[in-house]
Amino acid sequence: MDQYQLLLRTINLAKVGFSQAVVQPAVGWLVADQNKIWAEGWLDTTQAYQTQLADKLSNNHYPTKARLFINTNPFGNSEMLRQLATQHQLKDVIIASEGNTDLQAFEWFVNRRFYLYQQKKRPYIVLKWAQTTDSFVARSNYDSKWISGVHARKLVHQWRSQETAIWVGNNTYRFDNPRLNVRDWKGEDPIRIVVDPKQSLDRQLHVFDQSQPTLYYSEHLTPSLPKLEFARLPNADGWANRILHVLSDLHQRQIVSLFVEGGSQLLNFLIENDWWDEARVFTADKRFGKGITAPKIDQKYLISQQTVSEDQLATYYRFSLEAEEEVEK
Ligand SMILES: NC(=O)c1ccc[n+]([C@@H]2O[C@H](COP(=O)([O-])OP(=O)(O)OC[C@H]3O[C@@H](n4cnc5c(N)ncnc54)[C@H](OP(=O)(O)O)[C@@H]3O)[C@@H](O)[C@H]2O)c1
Repeated sequence: MDQYQLLLRTINLAKVGFSQAVVQPAVGWLVADQNKIWAEGWLDTTQAYQTQLADKLSNNHYPTKARLFINTNPFGNSEMLRQLATQHQLKDVIIASEGNTDLQAFEWFVNRRFYLYQQKKRPYIVLKWAQTTDSFVARSNYDSKWISGVHARKLVHQWRSQETAIWVGNNTYRFDNPRLNVRDWKGEDPIRIVVDPKQSLDRQLHVFDQSQPTLYYSEHLTPSLPKLEFARLPNADGWANRILHVLSDLHQRQIVSLFVEGGSQLLNFLIENDWWDEARVFTADKRFGKGITAPKIDQKYLISQQTVSEDQLATYYRFSLEAEEEVEK
């Protein structure tokens, strides 16, 4: 394997090791010389990186010409990483994020949540909804059950496990009463977010059941309960100010990514204000005729379309065109 392939492998190892967005980049590493990969793996994102990497490197006696390959520098400080390699008799360190532009782009994509969280000072925002072919997300009576199929729902549970927090609009809390946990996949539940300025939501809803960490923003100061933290929302006029406050507060709490599962009012508002990075939209082979209209997203951001069992899944990336748009502004 040449150097490019070895670095690409570290990026893939990081991708395989990624489970849920946290405030450290996903890290894949390997030790190789010209003939052989001697050791490889990824770092556990929930543990401190320095001791983990030191432990892994000290478990082996490598040949004198072996080098450490890694997708990104987990310490930010290149001297620290080089010292660690030298301490373990490794000849050198080669880092994919400092490699050619292809490697940099692949590495950035795997750790996009972490990089955009740092850059934008807000969580990386993933939008998701399911719509009918005639573009409705619910019937007129707010019933949205069974739009997408069983495989799409399983995939959504996997997606929930990957993001740090999850949020739906208040009508969705009212009418769907979702649990927003990870039931159909293995992984961590995301932190549930509720933004309810006047505390108008019924406290019997599942979101308040204290079964999963939940952050409840409101203008009223209320003592927190186990797994249900009350956060003060300033008496701000309008949803734009409220959302700005919430996003900045989530950033301070090191909530790296936010999965938004509807409904239309909330999703449309985030789209109109450019507060999103990625969108995943299922279209089911069903028609409602009338109901609650699906959010509108510009097709220029469409990246891919695929079939998931009986549904079509469209994926949109805002960052694919974002740099060009900033220049145009
Ligand atoms: N098919 C799907 O993928 C899917 C997903 C989720 C939900 N749904 C369906 O969508 C329907 C609900 O959608 P919806 O559009 O009526 O409501 P929604 O977006 O879930 O919630 C709207 C409510 O959120 C608050 N709100 C208003 N403007 C906001 C803003 N700019 N940002 C954040 N919150 C804001 C208001 O709460 P207050 O009234 O408290 O002021 C408003 O009533 C339900 O029938 C649900 O079943 C479908």
